[in-house]
Amino acid sequence: METAIDAKAMITTHDDIAPYMVEQRGRFIGQTSLVVLPKTTQEVSDVVKLCAEYNIGIVPQGGHTGLVSGGIPFPGDNAIVLSTSRLNKIRAIDPANNTMIVEAGCILQTIQEHAAKHDRLFPLSLGAEGSCQIGGNIATNAGGINVIRYGNTRQLILGLEVVTPTGEIWDGLRALQKDNTGYDLKQLYIGSEGTLGIITAAVLQLFPKPKEQQTAILALRDLDTSLPLLNLAQAMLGDALTSFELLPWIGIDFAQKHGQGVIDPIEGQYDWYILMEASVAINHSNLKDHFDNYLETAFEKGWIKDGVLAQNKTQSDCFWLLRENITLCQKAEGGSIKHDISVPVSSVPAFIKMANEAVQKLIPGIRPHPFGHLGDGNIHYNLSQPINMNKQDYLDRWEEVNRVVHDIVHSFNGSISAEHGIGRVKRDENQHYKSPIEIQLMKSIKTTLDPKGIMNPGKLIPVS
Ligand code: FAD
Ligand code: MLT
Ligand code: ZN
Repeated sequence: METAIDAKAMITTHDDIAPYMVEQRGRFIGQTSLVVLPKTTQEVSDVVKLCAEYNIGIVPQGGHTGLVSGGIPFPGDNAIVLSTSRLNKIRAIDPANNTMIVEAGCILQTIQEHAAKHDRLFPLSLGAEGSCQIGGNIATNAGGINVIRYGNTRQLILGLEVVTPTGEIWDGLRALQKDNTGYDLKQLYIGSEGTLGIITAAVLQLFPKPKEQQTAILALRDLDTSLPLLNLAQAMLGDALTSFELLPWIGIDFAQKHGQGVIDPIEGQYDWYILMEASVAINHSNLKDHFDNYLETAFEKGWIKDGVLAQNKTQSDCFWLLRENITLCQKAEGGSIKHDISVPVSSVPAFIKMANEAVQKLIPGIRPHPFGHLGDGNIHYNLSQPINMNKQDYLDRWEEVNRVVHDIVHSFNGSISAEHGIGRVKRDENQHYKSPIEIQLMKSIKTTLDPKGIMNPGKLIPVS
């Protein structure tokens, strides 16, 4: 049954992106004369051939959950939107080979559920998994909460099918663990944000389904102890450790105030928390004992003040609901200037302290609530407006705040976009931090593969 499409929603940015639109200070609605929803790879190829013939741009779109406006057609792009929402068949699953072949429009959660039905795990997991599509995940090299154990999307793809800017179909859907027959072309398209071609299908790497999972939320003595806690977890739980998320009290407070059914499982208020998870794919493991020993050691060393180990899946789901609501509830606190930065894991506490000091100087009363994937060095350094400041005045300071934060990231040799990509929002900012040779190499790949520049014009690659 075809679902009705809301074309206008497909070209509108999310609320929390709008402040980033340098030209805009409100909900930004893109501009396009056509939205197409091809159902097959051949139809994608036919559309691309037409666009190539008439020099019309194409903005590929998956679930439209991207946070850097990569899937929005901007005025002047002269582009159509090509949605993969109807290109959504699961073509095959081979549990013995631990692989699955899916079309780009498959929703991430559908893929996770299909793998689980075959006693396998597809480990990519993020807050938008109910609507983001695997094509968009691959195009943005999405990260999420399990990167510390399974890597980014880049590590989970064995093969791709791509429609090139001339409309040719490259079938690279080989389900092989090893294939050293030339350049690894799929790696060019992973993270290319639709600027080099349209991903139409992929071979996914699956893993054995976890048989036992332990989830805990810990109240830290202070921010600095997050590092030895992580190293102790890696030493005592090994590669059973799958998630290690940093949560600030202010984020938990937002989530409890504005979220539905959100409870803080720890009595009292501490500045920093860790939400962590470990799992093993064998029955009768002694994961729980290892986890108990870990918590005991952390207590003895004085690194944690309190902690709760989930007694069942329902409780662990509550911990994750709390964490996911930090993202969702920050909007309720007014203007939020978001960052998606990464620094070496060992530099995360120093970065947070330095950035907090700098932004408070810039805008007294600003409310930093850094949270996220500490295990990967990826922190969402999000900043809510001061209580007594006008939202517009606050958001008008976005560029200044951004530059201060990104300069500090740069001083740690970090990245201004750890997992969300560059899109349109960070395109110009990115040029400020990438070396001229990197920009030049990216431009030469772009002009070689898309000489007419019809693939997602105006995104990722600087225009000057
Ligand atoms: P879209 O938004 O539709 O498109 C994203 C980009 O990919 C665009 O540039 C688009 O042109 C391109 N594209 C889409 N499909 C294709 C295709 N088939 N071929 C070529 N290019 C294509 N991201 C993370 O990495 N980690 C997180 O933890 C995370 N949490 C999130 C939580 C929430 C609540 C939300 C709203 C977003 C979150 N995101 C996160 C961001 C977003 O979900 C990811 O970037 C996701 O990968 C985007 O997938 P999508 O299908 O929505 O892509
Ligand atoms: C998350 O990890 O929740 C997202 O990547 C951050 C965000 O949506 O701001
Ligand atoms: Zn994230």
